[in-house]
Amino acid sequence: MTSHKSTFRFLIFLLVSALAAGIPPASATRRPASSSHDYGDALTKCIMFFEGQRSGRLPPNQRLTWRRDSALRDGSDIGMDLVGGYYDAGDNVKFHLPMAWTTTMIGWSVLEFGNKMGRSDLRHSLDALRWGTDYFLKATSVPGRVVAQVADPVLDHDCWERPEDMDTPRNSYVLNASHPGSEVAGEIAAALTVGALAFRRIRPSYTKLLLNRAIQVFEFGDKHRGSYAQSVGAGACPFYCSPNGYMDELAWAAAWLFMATGDRKYSYYVKSNLGTGLTAFNWDSKFAGVYVLLASLDYAYAANADNLVCAIMPESPSKTYTYTPGGLLYSKGASSNMQNPTALCFLLAAYTRVLRARNRSVRCGNVNIDPSRLDRFVKSQADYILGSNPLGMSYMVGYGPRYPRRIHHRGSVLPNIRQHPKKIGCSEGYWYFKNLRSNPNVLTGAVVGGPDMNDGFQDSQLVVSQSEPTTYINAPFVGVLAFVKGGFKV
Ligand SMILES: *[C@@H]1O[C@H](CO)[C@@H](O)[C@H](O)[C@H]1NC(C)=O
Ligand SMILES: *[C@@H]1O[C@H](CO)[C@@H](O)[C@H](O)[C@H]1NC(C)=O
Repeated sequence: MTSHKSTFRFLIFLLVSALAAGIPPASATRRPASSSHDYGDALTKCIMFFEGQRSGRLPPNQRLTWRRDSALRDGSDIGMDLVGGYYDAGDNVKFHLPMAWTTTMIGWSVLEFGNKMGRSDLRHSLDALRWGTDYFLKATSVPGRVVAQVADPVLDHDCWERPEDMDTPRNSYVLNASHPGSEVAGEIAAALTVGALAFRRIRPSYTKLLLNRAIQVFEFGDKHRGSYAQSVGAGACPFYCSPNGYMDELAWAAAWLFMATGDRKYSYYVKSNLGTGLTAFNWDSKFAGVYVLLASLDYAYAANADNLVCAIMPESPSKTYTYTPGGLLYSKGASSNMQNPTALCFLLAAYTRVLRARNRSVRCGNVNIDPSRLDRFVKSQADYILGSNPLGMSYMVGYGPRYPRRIHHRGSVLPNIRQHPKKIGCSEGYWYFKNLRSNPNVLTGAVVGGPDMNDGFQDSQLVVSQSEPTTYINAPFVGVLAFVKGGFKV
């Protein structure tokens, strides 16, 4: 820890230089395609997807125009304004745990790879980030209170309704001192902090607001410890229970707060609460992200990040992840498996920057893995997702000639408001669900749960784990696509 201060400066330098380089000249043109995929097109669509998931009042520059305003009275049951945010997947619930993780990962994508995006995609990524952070400012506007979720998921799932005319209960689930939820508070604090870093140059006063709130929310989550699964019960479980506990979210939030403030109390917090040797990275599990984020600071983080690389890479003797015969990273027992390759590839891409800056490679037993090997691996996973796979199927809606046409998503399955202005009721919607031929509304950029462990895929709204898109599949993929589009180099 002796070189702590200078390594911290080095990290801030990395972040700030990524940010400063984030606005390319207007004349920046697309690289000639040297590969079979148009990563720029995929990136643009990957970001556009979030517009399709928006809840609340849509802005004039909304590009997915088949969506309209929805859920404009959210929060009225508790006297708060909770209009906005994102629907998590194919339903109309606002689950704040995965929503906050989604926001964090859009923000980290901007911080790490914003300089590879190009002006337009960067602007839209910042819009997508702000759609999340604006909402979390609302959900944390009352001190001593954090809203954990909006809408009863059981009753929501009983209906097949467009968000624009749903009439299911929009009740708010509130956390407070006697009903804590440290994983939700921790992840919201992380999202607000990443937002503060991403807007630091362009909106300093907004950054101040986000950072102050993040600190408050982190303190709330740390002081009143407990799982929101207990506090909100059936609202959270079995949908987004947090089996992995809340210490990872608190450490993750502290890691980001350290990045934003340089205050050592946060780095001590992370160090004394660090879970080691963990290799999952998703809306429930954050320690692997902490390792990569802080790998430049301290050998303990780098050793854990190296271990993560060895758990993932196919040639590693200590790998724990498996692969489909066609080469896609596949986590056994996963539903929505695609969240694993997108999130883990994000970490590998981010880690190549640390390795390159330190002129290092990773040793897994007697196998040497250098940054360029990680580049190729990340590209291979992105290529699989975009259509280089045994079925020749792009798993991103609207990308390439062949992509899922029957995704499990209410707004995409039902005719839109312009085609069908009359309300479609709870059970009436199931007629469209059952008789779906192809989605009438294209949810551009949505990456679905993806193939099974043998590269098989059923393009059917009935096979939820394969055909449902989620915000947390797409969010880390934004960074991955920017990395691959940019030709990997820092
Ligand atoms: C805390 O939240 C619970 C449930 O969300 C509620 O029943 C209780 O009244 C709240 N306590 C305070 C002091 O607001
Ligand atoms: C990087 O490491 C390699 C091998 O470990 C070494 O040969 C090379 O000189 C190093 N480069 C720099 C710039 O330190």
